[in-house]
Amino acid sequence: MPQVSHVVAIDPFQERLHSLKQAFPGLALYPNLETALDHVDAVIIATPPSTHAALALTALASGKSVLVEKPLATSTQEARQMIAEAAARSLVLMVGHTFEYNAAVWKLRELVQSNELGRVYPCKVRRTTVVGSSKMAVYNDLSSDERIRIFDKGVVSPEGNSSLQNMPMTYRYGEIRAPYLRFEEPLSVQDAEFVSCVLSGSQPQTDGHNGLSIVQALECADISLRAGRMVSLEEVSRTDGSKPELAKVS
Ligand SMILES: NC(=O)c1ccc[n+]([C@@H]2O[C@H](COP(=O)([O-])OP(=O)(O)OC[C@H]3O[C@@H](n4cnc5c(N)ncnc54)[C@H](O)[C@@H]3O)[C@@H](O)[C@H]2O)c1
Repeated sequence: MPQVSHVVAIDPFQERLHSLKQAFPGLALYPNLETALDHVDAVIIATPPSTHAALALTALASGKSVLVEKPLATSTQEARQMIAEAAARSLVLMVGHTFEYNAAVWKLRELVQSNELGRVYPCKVRRTTVVGSSKMAVYNDLSSDERIRIFDKGVVSPEGNSSLQNMPMTYRYGEIRAPYLRFEEPLSVQDAEFVSCVLSGSQPQTDGHNGLSIVQALECADISLRAGRMVSLEEVSRTDGSKPELAKVS
């Protein structure tokens, strides 16, 4: 951008700095925000969300306007603190809600608000796309025919080691195939399985253990949300009654 005369990059990880240096040889590099602050007028924060608030508050406290990648923060309390700090210092605090700078999104808003579309209903989407190195399959549960379409379209990863200069992935296109599927209403298949298992005493495909595996994943997600750390399935698989640690692991 013509108004930007100088760009510096900050990253605590040496490997990332090295990669940046190769991609942009003229770039000044710093291992942390504090050492870079004297060399910049404004800061863009594109780090993991848990670090957004602390970094933004540091930048704002030193009089720098800040653009933070979404999400602005990981709690409303942090977000309010950032807003207050920017307002107190008359600095710009901006969040990277890119969709709000997208003309198509604004057009859609206009279409809805002008009532051109009439009453709005939520469109049900049940689609799973699996992209492989050889082919891509799209499963659209709401399609009356062609629920599964196989595209001879794959993703090709770059040759050799990937660096910032390389395109991360490229696409290869080819024919599209929709295999024949004998379709039966899944709810009816499920209930028939239940009745069959009751009559024969056999174990259903989705037995209690199958249910447990989903509950474990949900429990891990819930603990992770509250503790702010990664939670392994082993932690909730304990059968001795002990509870997983809620403390954050650094
Ligand atoms: N990747 C996307 O498409 C995308 C889209 C929208 C929003 N975002 C947001 O952008 C941010 C970054 O996402 P990403 O995918 O590039 O993550 P990433 O993990 O690939 O990159 C984050 C970088 O931040 C560096 N970093 C970590 N702590 C730091 C610190 N204290 N100071 C300076 N640098 C630090 C890491 O070394 C890493 O290089 C996130 O907030 C994410 O929510 C990403």
